[in-house]
Amino acid sequence: MTREEALSLLARAQTFLDERAGLDSKDRPLKGKTVLNVFFENSTRTRTSFELAGKRLGADVVNLAGSSSSTKKGETLFDTFATLNAMHAHAIVLRHSASGAPHVVAPRSRAAIVNAGDGMHEHPTQALLDALTLTRALGTLEGKTIAICGDILHSRVARSNALLLPLLGAKVRLSGPRTMLPRSAEALGLEVYDRIEPALEDVDAIMMLRIQMERLGGALFPSTREYSRIWGLNERRLRLARPGAPVLHPGPLNRGVEIHEDVADGTQSVILNQVEAGVAVRMAVLESCVLGS
Ligand code: NCD
Repeated sequence: MTREEALSLLARAQTFLDERAGLDSKDRPLKGKTVLNVFFENSTRTRTSFELAGKRLGADVVNLAGSSSSTKKGETLFDTFATLNAMHAHAIVLRHSASGAPHVVAPRSRAAIVNAGDGMHEHPTQALLDALTLTRALGTLEGKTIAICGDILHSRVARSNALLLPLLGAKVRLSGPRTMLPRSAEALGLEVYDRIEPALEDVDAIMMLRIQMERLGGALFPSTREYSRIWGLNERRLRLARPGAPVLHPGPLNRGVEIHEDVADGTQSVILNQVEAGVAVRMAVLESCVLGS
């Protein structure tokens, strides 16, 4: 995605947010279009917001959960996609545990493929909704410093944000236990910290991530209690950032582990603003993918 493409999606998403994520809008630009939500991994926020986004644009939305699809009977992803394509959908929103899955099926698909999270690789609409939330909280991303903390190695959210936020003028600091930091991060020109305190010093915003238990190859940290003590965001650590710095988390939250209750529910938390921005961003993305605007 180029900076211009990102800015244009964010501007469109902002107009949807002004209409309460499309609730006040009479416009139905995707009337007569079909969107398939195909989720092979669990999801609360992403699946629901894509469904609402499609419906608020006037599209017919069909949800298919991977756990109830024929891949469970041995069908390959290619055959599942050939089948879905034969139904003439205009967009297929795909979440899959394999990194690169959307890139593999996209060339064979007539429908636009939207990546809703592929393994440990990327989660582009999450990064867009984070960028929108940050822009609304900070006024601009230009010249701002954002700390992303936690299990960076296994996080598609961290990877997509590490690409998008610098494109929009922000500086990104990555921070996590050595065992949860990608070796490539420094090579990409990102600042890397293996302690949370220096990473938080004077930052404009903080993004906390949960430990991706389902993707851990082995024990990469001693215990959740120990992790919380050394890496958890509490009030004391929050004070290291600039006053009023917004706190983001893509969810699901593991309260008391990477984020303490008082911070998750505190005045600086913008976690629910992220959810609201998610519907608006996904409306902008679906509209652009289906209508090619
Ligand atoms: C994230 C995901 O699925 O990658 N959740 C989300 O989309 N809101 C983050 C996570 O699962 O930790």
